[in-house]
Amino acid sequence: MSVDYAFKTEHLTRSFSGFKAVSDVTIEIPVGGVRTIIGPNGAGKTTFFNLLSGLLPPSSGKIFFDGKDITNLEPYKRARMGLARSFQITNIFAKLTVYENVRLAVQAVHDGTASFFFPSRTKMGDLAGKTESILDDIGLTSVANGLAENLSHGDQRRLEIGLVLARDPKVLLLDEPLAGMSPTETHATVELIVRIAPGRTILLVEHDIDVIMAISTTITVLQTGQILAVGTPLEIRTNEAVQRAYLGGHV
Ligand SMILES: Nc1ncnc2c1ncn2[C@@H]1O[C@H](COP(=O)(O)OP(=O)(O)OP(=O)(O)O)[C@@H](O)[C@H]1O
Ligand SMILES: [Mg+2]
Repeated sequence: MSVDYAFKTEHLTRSFSGFKAVSDVTIEIPVGGVRTIIGPNGAGKTTFFNLLSGLLPPSSGKIFFDGKDITNLEPYKRARMGLARSFQITNIFAKLTVYENVRLAVQAVHDGTASFFFPSRTKMGDLAGKTESILDDIGLTSVANGLAENLSHGDQRRLEIGLVLARDPKVLLLDEPLAGMSPTETHATVELIVRIAPGRTILLVEHDIDVIMAISTTITVLQTGQILAVGTPLEIRTNEAVQRAYLGGHV
């Protein structure tokens, strides 16, 4: 990246019928690391993600990504710039195998970047290699030939992350990737996030306080659409305002 922030927002605000779900948020999210956003239910975390990915237009304020003002840029153009969001499992083709799902995602990126004037030199073997390396990253090599619909919930969510990884995104937004997972699935997914973090910026919304404290480079606390605090896990753990408003003595 040409700048030292992954994202920057200026006075970012999103209202729903006059109610400010995200209210005047000005923040710089540095490049690299796991940047976690926490806050009570309804704090505006998902709305903030929707604004960053372009799913929702802001009511006012600006968003910068990689040095460019992307406030009004369509979501697919943001994705092309290297900003990816893991959607729910609806992106998965249930009746295809796990391998075929990843392979299609890899191929889509490959087809999208090749052109008449700049034919991609990627060989079919490279596509297979990339597919296998993603399967390895998401820990699904052993079930690659099974249908996606037969995967457990946790495995489907890791497959979903794998489909996003096919784009090799610079910035990855993950909204509650551990929701509904068993302890084993949680463990595998946390390992996956830690494994794919180097060389990227991960923006994570999570509720599991132990995971948050263990893997976050920084934590941003949102409350009623506004930033209450930003800091390292230790700083957030010992921040009195955060303790009062949110953590309530749990950590
Ligand atoms: N499309 C919408 N229309 C109206 N109100 C909305 C809409 N989306 C979100 N809100 C409201 O904005 C506020 C913030 O919601 P948001 O989903 O961003 O919170 P959150 O921090 O992600 O919460 P959770 O932890 O429960 O996922 C809530 O009061 C919610 O009801
Ligand atoms: Mg949410």
